[in-house]
Amino acid sequence: MVTIERFDPLSATEAGFAAYHAVLAASRETDRPGEPVLPPGELAGRLARPLPGMGEAAQWVAYRGNELVAFAEVHFLEAENRGIGLVDVVVHPAARRSGIGTALLHAVLPELRARDRRSVEGWQVVAGSAGEPWAEALGFRPVRTIVRQALVVAEADRSRWDVTVPVGYRVVRWAGAAPDALLDSYARARAAIHDAPLGGSGFQWPAWTAERVRAAEAEARSQGLEQRIVAAVHQETGEVAGFTEVCVHPRRPDWGYQRDTAVLAGHRGHGLGRCVKAHMIRWLVAERPGLRRISTTTGAENAHMIRVNRELGLGSLPAVIAVQQDLDALLSRGTRRA
Ligand SMILES: CC(C)(COP(=O)(O)OP(=O)(O)OC[C@H]1O[C@@H](n2cnc3c(N)ncnc32)[C@H](O)[C@@H]1OP(=O)(O)O)[C@@H](O)C(=O)NCCC(=O)NCCS
Repeated sequence: MVTIERFDPLSATEAGFAAYHAVLAASRETDRPGEPVLPPGELAGRLARPLPGMGEAAQWVAYRGNELVAFAEVHFLEAENRGIGLVDVVVHPAARRSGIGTALLHAVLPELRARDRRSVEGWQVVAGSAGEPWAEALGFRPVRTIVRQALVVAEADRSRWDVTVPVGYRVVRWAGAAPDALLDSYARARAAIHDAPLGGSGFQWPAWTAERVRAAEAEARSQGLEQRIVAAVHQETGEVAGFTEVCVHPRRPDWGYQRDTAVLAGHRGHGLGRCVKAHMIRWLVAERPGLRRISTTTGAENAHMIRVNRELGLGSLPAVIAVQQDLDALLSRGTRRA
């Protein structure tokens, strides 16, 4: 007998988090063997307060008898993306193929409808894993392949990070707030991320303005996130030509989350992307000796970024596939067994 209920991270017990984490760990071991899993101590905070840009979250869990065997997490994306409900359904490997994943998905649909999320996306389907045929069986279509790469600091050849600054540019870096003098041109450089391909996903990059840059900085600060930026400034104009961003979470100090990297169209082809990323790695590794990994994701079509990452020593991990389906189509399918 399977029962599904909401999981409230603000009132959950330690045993509840442990059971939730056990499903996550077992599933990751099956679908992403050898990759570090979110530490158990980090789970409660991450469920209650998703990383900036992910919007609010809600979770559901499925019990078989008294045993927590699966969970679903939904992120209600914001601003440009407020029509999207981002869903991740995870079933313990020992409880798969008995309809629990499908039942969990259907359990979250009323909340998606209540919040007017007409489009349902999943971004965590590991290529070649059970998630692919499952999503297909439910009518989702693949909309984007996302390449995952990670730098394992201890294994890296550090000479790869010795990249000279291209002539005509200088490197500026900051943690937290962008200098006022660079704010407007930094916001324009951030907007260059719009050229990064998104495939058929309905997701849209934020329309960056100076105001939104400051709001994003404030959100990162409020979570205690260390947000580092390395920018290449064009010496002739004094404008930011490109930048890269990495965040380190206070409860996961050994892990750097690579966020956006972008170079304005008129400044591409000079090696600025490689330059700012190499500088970022050197800066992080020098100031954070406990840092063990920097992880990044890139659209599979984005060959340049993937190559730059490889040249800097990042290794490849199995790709993930983003899938999409309209809410109405899912609602009309109804639940299967379970
Ligand atoms: C994907 C996942 C959630 C499926 O959970 P589940 O409870 O095993 O799925 P269901 O029993 O509801 O499967 C429904 C249908 O999907 C298809 N399916 C599911 N797993 C499959 C597999 N390994 N191979 C082929 N088809 C599969 C089948 O058509 C299945 O119906 P059937 O069993 O009657 O043939 C689970 O494998 C999982 O947790 N994977 C890791 C996380 C993930 O990829 N989540 C999806 C991202 S949103």
